[in-house]
Amino acid sequence: MKKIFFWIAVVFVAIQLVPIDRENKAVDKRDNFVDIYKTPENIKSILKNACYDCHSNEVKYPNYAYVAPISWTIKDHINEGREHLNFSEWGTYNKDLKQNAIEKTISSVHNLQMPLPFYIGYHPKANLTTKQRRELENYFSNLESK
Ligand code: HEC
Repeated sequence: MKKIFFWIAVVFVAIQLVPIDRENKAVDKRDNFVDIYKTPENIKSILKNACYDCHSNEVKYPNYAYVAPISWTIKDHINEGREHLNFSEWGTYNKDLKQNAIEKTISSVHNLQMPLPFYIGYHPKANLTTKQRRELENYFSNLESK
């Protein structure tokens, strides 16, 4: 028994040594969604509180994000989230991608798919009220018609 715990401990310590890239790339104002559209403060703060940790280059890592293997899961979500949509790199998207992202944002916020439900449990500020969800949806719908 003791031996098993010993080896579990060894593996746990060893996996802490696997390097993880937690760096945020610099945000270029010319490509940054909220700068491009001059997004009003209330919408900006919803995005920051509920979406930026997976869809921007302004990710804030919680303390538990430094403990493997949790850190690996978190990094996976961030990589995948950024791949689908990165508000910090909005300006690099073509018209179709933007339109698609706008539509997906509206539907995923409406259907409670975003922010990812498990994330809300650890981030009360991301637990958007229905009112906040409607504000976000309206804001993105108006972008669509521009
Ligand atoms: C904890 C991480 C996390 C948070 C927070 C988060 N997302 Fe996501 N998001 C993801 C991941 C991972 C994917 C890709 C996999 C998927 O679609 O489930 C994704 C996908 C998306 C997509 C693309 C969907 C598609 O079908 O292509 C949109 C749009 C989106 N998120 C919008 C948002 C918005 C808006 C918020 C904030 C209200 C938000 N997300 C918050 C992780 C997150």
